[in-house]
Amino acid sequence: MKLAVFHGSPRKGNTYKATQIFLDQINKHGETQIADFFLPEALPEFCTGCQLCFANPPEYCPHAGYVAPILEAVMQADALVFATPHHGVSSMSAGMKNLLDHLGFLALTVTPKAEMFEKKAFVITTGTGSASAKKPIVKGLKYKGVNRVYALSIRMFIHKWELMPPAKQARCEKALRRAADRFVAVKKRHAYLSTIGMYYITKFVIKRYIGKGGYPYRYWEEKGYFAKRPF
Ligand SMILES: Cc1cc2nc3c(=O)[nH]c(=O)nc-3n(C[C@H](O)[C@H](O)[C@H](O)COP(=O)(O)O)c2cc1C
Repeated sequence: MKLAVFHGSPRKGNTYKATQIFLDQINKHGETQIADFFLPEALPEFCTGCQLCFANPPEYCPHAGYVAPILEAVMQADALVFATPHHGVSSMSAGMKNLLDHLGFLALTVTPKAEMFEKKAFVITTGTGSASAKKPIVKGLKYKGVNRVYALSIRMFIHKWELMPPAKQARCEKALRRAADRFVAVKKRHAYLSTIGMYYITKFVIKRYIGKGGYPYRYWEEKGYFAKRPF
């Protein structure tokens, strides 16, 4: 299995530890190729909100030099892993948010890629509020048409994994390994209802409000998305 893994913590701490346990278990199922991206190093510029990527191909992004290899790895991968600590009361790390902002053009409502409909994704979050950090990432991935999205929040109250009581460490490790086993076994399934609904709404909106010659109309036309569902 080919994986693209996005490490959202600026340090190799709890989230990295959890991710390594998860990947180690995946490795036990057979040959794995992993493309690792450490944030923010892999994407050190903030999204400027210019929206050029909503009205043009992704090469127009002012940070295309960073985005292109990330996009390439995402397209090549069978599975995507997004790992982030809970930062700032209800969200992911800034580096992870910045990554998702830079990939906003993959949304079903803009220029979805057919490859995304074939993939599965896993989200790992750590921290006391890890559950609320996971939600927007899961939602964002479904919004990009990913076929199946799963997640595990490791609710932990301490900044260092090794300082958790050994029994709790063992419980977390067991949960991660079990999740990895299940994730490997997941096969492509029917598209989410939300994906189907968003496809038809966007098709209508682009035809009616963008129109021929405009972008993303041209993109949808070239890809044949108006004629046939890409999933
Ligand atoms: C800037 C910052 C903000 C944080 N905000 C929260 C928070 O709002 N709620 C929470 O439960 N933990 C918060 N934490 C703690 C981390 O989520 C937690 O320690 C996490 O497991 C650290 O993961 P890491 O070692 O991979 O960086 C914050 C940590 C940092 C550095």
